[in-house]
Amino acid sequence: MSLLHSDFQFRFDTRRHAGKVRDLYDIEGQLLVLVATDRVSAFDVILPAAVPAKGQLLNLLSAYLMQQQTAGIPHHLLAVPHPRVSIVRRCDPYPVEVVVRGHLCGHAWRIYRSGERSLCGVELPEGLRENDPLPEPIITPTTKSRIGHDTDLSESEITRSGLIPADEWMQMRSMALELFRRGQAWAVERGLLLADAKYEFGYVDFQIWLIDELHTPDAARYFWAEGFTERQERGEIQVQYSKEYLRQQLLALNYSGQDDMPPPALPETVIDELAQRYRLVFEKLTGQAFVEADDDPLAMQVSIEAELGRLLQSLP
Ligand SMILES: Nc1ncnc2c1ncn2[C@@H]1O[C@H](COP(=O)(O)OP(=O)(O)O)[C@@H](O)[C@H]1O
Ligand SMILES: [Mg+2]
Repeated sequence: MSLLHSDFQFRFDTRRHAGKVRDLYDIEGQLLVLVATDRVSAFDVILPAAVPAKGQLLNLLSAYLMQQQTAGIPHHLLAVPHPRVSIVRRCDPYPVEVVVRGHLCGHAWRIYRSGERSLCGVELPEGLRENDPLPEPIITPTTKSRIGHDTDLSESEITRSGLIPADEWMQMRSMALELFRRGQAWAVERGLLLADAKYEFGYVDFQIWLIDELHTPDAARYFWAEGFTERQERGEIQVQYSKEYLRQQLLALNYSGQDDMPPPALPETVIDELAQRYRLVFEKLTGQAFVEADDDPLAMQVSIEAELGRLLQSLP
């Protein structure tokens, strides 16, 4: 089963927004209900497709990893009243996506392949192949644009332009690097390699919080760990768990997010493969079998509302 849109009516002061894949309900300006749908996006465009259970898999995985990997780092998660739904602290999001890269993949590889050796102000060594590990993780931030495509930034552009105050940026970058280190250690013990990841942070109550999702295959890139190095040495293809698989399928259909072209329908086999990959990463990283839950909107509404009532009461 899949869920593409939600339309909850809560008895609290509510503002509804739709992200590309999640529906957001701002509750009393204090809480946010994040509903992970089965929508799929690539190249910043929503595709005419649904990947069954994707929203449940991503929401549950993110909630699980946020509980496991954030010791000492404030995070926004308060409750998970349904496998698709997280209730979080509403923060003011910083206008930057903090990307940490431990390997040369995706966008970074495409820049490198073009002959460029500098990315977001970071110098890259010569002689790297696609997917090779970098000498150490690097930070390659992008703008978080409301509309259109994200653009690369250097750390000094972020602070010199005043986009983020320097002291807050320093905290954010060290939180991101620490989360990445933990994410890598977590993955490798479970048979996957964490190659890169994107973090979002927000501000509220005089501090910086980790927001959005953590280390899901929509916000990160994993490789199959066993045999990775041998495949690199032989120049073989790596199996990867990330949005790159979807991007490759779309590129094969001559689609890369062009403004003058509607996104194509995805073949059934691609949808199945996507669903399987999301499930595999969930099961590997949590060590749990995934059992799809019912998406009855009325039952969801009742349990979300009950949780909201409890949380609003406990707020100062
Ligand atoms: N705690 C939070 N406070 C405010 N905004 C948040 C929080 N957590 C996530 N968000 C925002 O909610 C949106 C999640 O929905 P998503 O479908 O990923 O949207 P987008 O199309 O912007 O990527 C993102 O824009 C993200 O920045
Ligand atoms: Mg998003």
